[in-house]
Amino acid sequence: MTTLSASESAELNHLLDTRQPNYGLPRQFYHDEMLYQAEMEAIWRQDWLFAGHSCQIPQPGDYFLYEVEGDSIIIVRGDDGKVNAFYNVCRHRGSVICQEPQGSVRRFICPYHQWTYDRNGRLLLQRGMQEGLDKSQLGLHAAQAREVEGMIFISLASEPVNFDPVEAVIGPEARPQGLARGRVAKIMDFEVESNWKLVWENNRECYHCNVNHPQYIKANFDHYNVDDTIPRVAERLKAVTTRLEFKLTTLGMSVRDEAGLTEFPDPDHGIWYAANRTPLVEGYVSETMDGRQVAPLMGDYKDPDVGTLRIRSLPNFWIHASCDHSVAVRLTPHGIARTSIRMIWLVDSKAEEGRDYDLEKLLPFWLLTAEQDWQICANQQRGVSSRAYTPGPLSTYKEYNLDRFLRWYIQEMKAYFAP
Ligand code: FES
Ligand SMILES: [Fe+2]
Repeated sequence: MTTLSASESAELNHLLDTRQPNYGLPRQFYHDEMLYQAEMEAIWRQDWLFAGHSCQIPQPGDYFLYEVEGDSIIIVRGDDGKVNAFYNVCRHRGSVICQEPQGSVRRFICPYHQWTYDRNGRLLLQRGMQEGLDKSQLGLHAAQAREVEGMIFISLASEPVNFDPVEAVIGPEARPQGLARGRVAKIMDFEVESNWKLVWENNRECYHCNVNHPQYIKANFDHYNVDDTIPRVAERLKAVTTRLEFKLTTLGMSVRDEAGLTEFPDPDHGIWYAANRTPLVEGYVSETMDGRQVAPLMGDYKDPDVGTLRIRSLPNFWIHASCDHSVAVRLTPHGIARTSIRMIWLVDSKAEEGRDYDLEKLLPFWLLTAEQDWQICANQQRGVSSRAYTPGPLSTYKEYNLDRFLRWYIQEMKAYFAP
């Protein structure tokens, strides 16, 4: 049920029709406040959002907050060990309840008049209120929460799309990586002056990698694309893939993709989540500056040479995992021209900083890549905000995934705002 008026809805549908296939988005998509609010409604308050990692809340009562454009969500481990998500809004007069971004509670006590809720969101105490109020009707408003192999997803939709297929796809791929047995080595938060779609658009192509990510392309094959590589490169990609396939088969694991940037998303088949493993460049066993292992092996790995595992889920999550560490990225829109981005570096739960790994070796590869990307996105935001900007053509060789992302986006919006 949309909150747009009939004329706004008509205007929006008209705007959505202005995108030409295989071109970028027109300026309004990065500029129009009504459109931004419509995206919040159709995508961000409907879809499944990655919120954080299970090890951030290991014990009952441990919580962290996830702020999703106006809604503060408490992600808490309940007494039964399951993850719950509640709106951080008191059922009395609406004060936020948790003020600290993370912590551990026995009960949730509202700071205003001390209404008190248990860790499953039930109202326990409302001192000073008259008899006869039905406490069972005054529990915290809940959101949906699911935990898959150490990854916590939430949805603010009252009837979210089925999450089971997501779990079926990413669960088995993630299991050998041992994400559920990981621990946080570092969390870093960034405020990037860029619309959230630009951050995805940049993520979905490696056309920019050769010049902008000199260290990234030493480790990865993403800047080669299956359909435009010269025979010599194609042979090399085939060779590394065959070698990794053979290796993983002997380790009892699957390799699901050739080297290079895999196709994602697939709006024609409703695919907004995916997981695949892909080879690293010869001599690299980890996405680190020199390709060497920098922390103990994660999960079930007995051998560092397992390529890299990638998981992604629209609209807000991707993770790159090497044999020894994993880096999760969470996007959250923060106004039309700003995105809050959280990066979470994970290592094996038994790894100790200083003894088993050093942040100086663990962080630079992805930190550098990320900072290069955030700068690119901010540059693009400045450009597309200009009245002179008009969408240009996309490379069918190198930006096919960007086109897929934009088609997914238009489709999501149209499905929700269908007249
Ligand atoms: S607003 Fe929370 S107790 Fe009054
Ligand atoms: Fe990049």
